[in-house]
Amino acid sequence: MNKTVDWAARRKDFPILDQTVHGKPLVYFDNAATSQKPRPVIQALVHYYECDNANVHRGIHELSNRATNAFESARARAAKFINAKSSDEIIWTRGTTEGINLVATTWGEKNLKHGDVILLTEMEHHSNLVPWQMLAQKTGAKITYIPVTGDEGLLDLSRLDTLLASQVKIFSMVHVSNSLGTVNPVAELCARARKHGIVTLVDGAQSAGHLPVDVQAIGCDFFAFSGHKICGPTGIGVLWGRPEVLEAMPPYQGGGEMILTVGYDKTEFKHPPHRFEAGTPDISGPIGLHAAMDYLDAIGRDNIWRHDQELAKHAYEKLAALNNIRLFGPKTNSANRAGLVSFLLQDVHAHDVVTLADQAGVALRGGHHCTQPLMHKLGVESTARASFYFYNTMAEVDRFVEVVKEIQKFFGQ
Ligand code: ALA
Repeated sequence: MNKTVDWAARRKDFPILDQTVHGKPLVYFDNAATSQKPRPVIQALVHYYECDNANVHRGIHELSNRATNAFESARARAAKFINAKSSDEIIWTRGTTEGINLVATTWGEKNLKHGDVILLTEMEHHSNLVPWQMLAQKTGAKITYIPVTGDEGLLDLSRLDTLLASQVKIFSMVHVSNSLGTVNPVAELCARARKHGIVTLVDGAQSAGHLPVDVQAIGCDFFAFSGHKICGPTGIGVLWGRPEVLEAMPPYQGGGEMILTVGYDKTEFKHPPHRFEAGTPDISGPIGLHAAMDYLDAIGRDNIWRHDQELAKHAYEKLAALNNIRLFGPKTNSANRAGLVSFLLQDVHAHDVVTLADQAGVALRGGHHCTQPLMHKLGVESTARASFYFYNTMAEVDRFVEVVKEIQKFFGQ
């Protein structure tokens, strides 16, 4: 295990982890769904509500100034977190889903027409499928998918240049698959798309809190992520956009805060990012997220990445040694597997695995993971999934594998 960080001390920052569930110590392996929150994040939220709560941007009283400063300094922190050039490139959203919907609605409705192509991959989450399907219905654009190769879950890029040379206007891709754990080569994909003048969006929901992210190095036009998966609160997310692309986009919603002047028949809109933030925003969300980003970067996302990969490798190899198990996603001898393992036990429904694991204190997730088309492609309805974060331990992985073996025994395997 990577020794540069005192992982045991970091784990103690998460009060929720120190409990029993059904009489057994909690093993929380549902981090791809949402992460737990460390004390500094919880304290930042409490401090805001106990000391500084007020509406932002509108007041000139002390509390409003404090709230506004905290809200805008979180925006600058988010810019630094992904190496954006300016905080004006950071739009607050409710999460990754809203970020993608914002782009599909504003950029999409302005720029797409009948016959244009939206390029996606077969491993997209519903949040990076459904908004594009809705846009395709409105505009007459078509959707094309980059195929996924079998259970190993890699993108088949053999026809990429032919696809990119068609009428593709936007290419939206997941950075790390929530169902397979695949890490996609997003910088290479964006560079190849850019040669054809194609706009790119990267869904960073499963990557932003797990590995260093540099939007300039990736070379995308949009990058979306969620606060709650990176130790921050629920209900807050970030959409980063390349400034010249954002400047040319119409507003998302209308209302207060996003205007320069309003008349009875005409409105002038603010520049980005405020043009895209109508109404009173989530104020505590960015403040909690600021604390989360500070917390993660004090550990170092390169350290977190190595730690999570070691857990995933250990889990994958121990599970692979069992009989009657099917594993999904890249093999662990490749660098492109993130910290999660999806699996199926022969003749056992994923929900039964998750229910029995829960009785043993182990929190997993079972289902289609909001990737129904991918599940159909793999010929399954669902998988069970263990997803790790830096506060998890090797001992927990060992406990999880023992529980999987007990479940197999229960089903007579
Ligand atoms: N997208 C989240 C997951 O994979 C909810 O669990």
